[in-house]
Amino acid sequence: MTRAIIQPRRSDNAEQPPRKGRLIITIDGPAGAGKSTVARLLASSLGYLYLDTGALYRAVAWKIQASGVDPADEKGIAATLRCTRVRTEQHADRMHVYVDAQDLTDEIRRPEISRIASMVSALPSVRDWLLPVQRQAGSGGGVVAEGRDVGTRVFPSADVKFFLEADMEVRAARRHRELTAAGYAVPVDQTLQDLRDRDTQDRTREVAPLLPAPDAERIDTSALTVAQVIDRMMAVISSRL
Ligand code: DC
Repeated sequence: MTRAIIQPRRSDNAEQPPRKGRLIITIDGPAGAGKSTVARLLASSLGYLYLDTGALYRAVAWKIQASGVDPADEKGIAATLRCTRVRTEQHADRMHVYVDAQDLTDEIRRPEISRIASMVSALPSVRDWLLPVQRQAGSGGGVVAEGRDVGTRVFPSADVKFFLEADMEVRAARRHRELTAAGYAVPVDQTLQDLRDRDTQDRTREVAPLLPAPDAERIDTSALTVAQVIDRMMAVISSRL
């Protein structure tokens, strides 16, 4: 399935109503709570698009770093984004991210890009720039969107909202396993510290802080297997289909 996302057009800035029977499902929560794994599996079993909004923030972070712009320089970032194109494509159950013409799907997972993404995601101009990109991808429904504010800001009228959480140590261990599997040798202490810093940054920023939507189903995944999390989510989704 391919659904290309082309860059901000003002007319895409409004949340679109989903097509009947093709739900908009949102999954928010901190890093390492298990969002990506379950979002990908849910999207695949429902035949829906998987929208990883964190990857879009990472794509912006990559562009800022590649352009040599200071991640704290909001004006410089806004100017850079004016001539930037971010596009995604779904290949099997994986979302590929392109910045301008380059496929950066793996590159944006670098730990230093995580840190820059956390910084730039606190900037209102970056969040505003990415809003229509995300909404355009979800327009028409049939999407599982994961991020930090997809249920609160991007798709406030989503059909089903989840908020996944887990203990900090469990999240750090998961993130460390992911990084190791991807070939990044980061000490576990460093992973824990990075997570703490990003959590503080994501939860305390003024714009769109990481918060559960009031109507979100909250699931603590610390002691659950992936299959158990999916079962709980499917029970909720089935009741809304
Ligand atoms: O989920 P992730 O680690 O790939 O996200 C990268 C960064 O982007 C993370 O610091 C939080 C931020 N983000 C956000 O602010 N809002 C979203 N909807 C998704 C991610």
